Amino acid sequence: MKAYRAAILRFATDRDPGQSAIYESDGLLVLGPNAQGREVVQAVGPWHELRARFSDLDVTHWPGRLIAPGFVDLHSHYPQTNVIGSPAEGLLPWLENYTFPEEKRFASPDYSTEAAQFFIAELLRQGVTTALTFATSHPASVQAFFAEAQKHHMRLITGLCLMDRHAPAELLNQPSMRGASDATEQSLLASEALIQRWHGVDRLGYAITPRFAPTSSNAQLRGAGELAARHPDVWIQSHVAENHEEIAWARDLFPASDSYLSTYADFGLLRERAIYAHCIHFDDADRAMMRDTGAAGAVCPTSNLFLGSGFFDYAGADRVGFQYGLASDVGGGTSFSPFHTMLAAYTVGREGQTKPGLSLSPQQLWWQHTAGAAQALGLAGVVGNLQVGCEADFVVLNPQATPLLARRTALAESLDELLFAMIVLGDDRLVERTIISQAI
Ligand code: GUN
Ligand code: ZN
Repeated sequence: MKAYRAAILRFATDRDPGQSAIYESDGLLVLGPNAQGREVVQAVGPWHELRARFSDLDVTHWPGRLIAPGFVDLHSHYPQTNVIGSPAEGLLPWLENYTFPEEKRFASPDYSTEAAQFFIAELLRQGVTTALTFATSHPASVQAFFAEAQKHHMRLITGLCLMDRHAPAELLNQPSMRGASDATEQSLLASEALIQRWHGVDRLGYAITPRFAPTSSNAQLRGAGELAARHPDVWIQSHVAENHEEIAWARDLFPASDSYLSTYADFGLLRERAIYAHCIHFDDADRAMMRDTGAAGAVCPTSNLFLGSGFFDYAGADRVGFQYGLASDVGGGTSFSPFHTMLAAYTVGREGQTKPGLSLSPQQLWWQHTAGAAQALGLAGVVGNLQVGCEADFVVLNPQATPLLARRTALAESLDELLFAMIVLGDDRLVERTIISQAI
């Protein structure tokens, strides 16, 4: 058993997310193994209430520090670290001019391994402990990422990018597997083999990953849906309704579907554990389809601002009631920092709404990047929170990390003020440590 004393932030599971934060100014967090030997929270609460019960434990004391759940990033691309900050008129030229050329390099296992090492180290530096991320269309890129993730015992999810048309030849799935008649069949067999190899190994998870409808044939989307039906506990990830040209292209290619989002539904790709990035240009029928199928949106505010894609409609999502959480979308996104993402989400919540005046509370923003994102993944009570039973992934924040943070947080008179000061002023300097649950 391990015990840590500091201020502690966690979330109640039975309250409105905007009012769900529980804050101990002087708390105790006690960790120990669960039945599977995974380190989880055994007790959490005020120090003065718990100290007698755990008086035999050595307590690590971090005065002036705040323990908080590790952040959950619902959508990113580990092969796109090197394209962060590449300007383009919009999504499609950005893909063609910067992203596709970089992704071609991931045919190399060594290139993939180095990129995975950097990406995972950066997640940890920034306080992200769970991530759903794209690899490329090369099986080597998936192998490399899982192998690195396993070394860190992290809860990370990725999958082979399915793309069998409308992209450079080096990025299309290759017909190399024995027994496959063509590249499309090969991509599905390779996905199945990667599920068998990695899904549920340690804390790793597999995501069936059609890049987006325009780069997959009907046969590939149909095969992906069949694979998803055979593996209900595997995740699905893709993109939808990000950019007007992309939407027009998807509508042109799949005219029989009622909307871009419906295309995915028509191939069996909308269900629980399906995470769709962006979800910007939706109507209420799309929102209701998300709600009714249990799919979730990954809101990517820094990417949407950088690529000029548009503004996620929080009011619309909440009115109809579908699940969503926050995501960096590196490398369309401009930062790995959850603080930058939360601040951008706030800005969009103020300025980008169809109904003026809406803004998100600091508790809501923080929840959307921790417990709320975990819920969207079907991992509520597993990660993204520090309630009893949660896996012990957490960050230790230092609100005195910079002169300005120290000055501003010292003046905070409420929890919302403290959280807001960190969201607005925070970055990797605020994250003193990131601690990953161990296998005991
Ligand atoms: N749509 C299809 N591929 C991508 C990608 O790599 N990034 C973003 N932002 N949108 C996409
Ligand atoms: Zn993306």
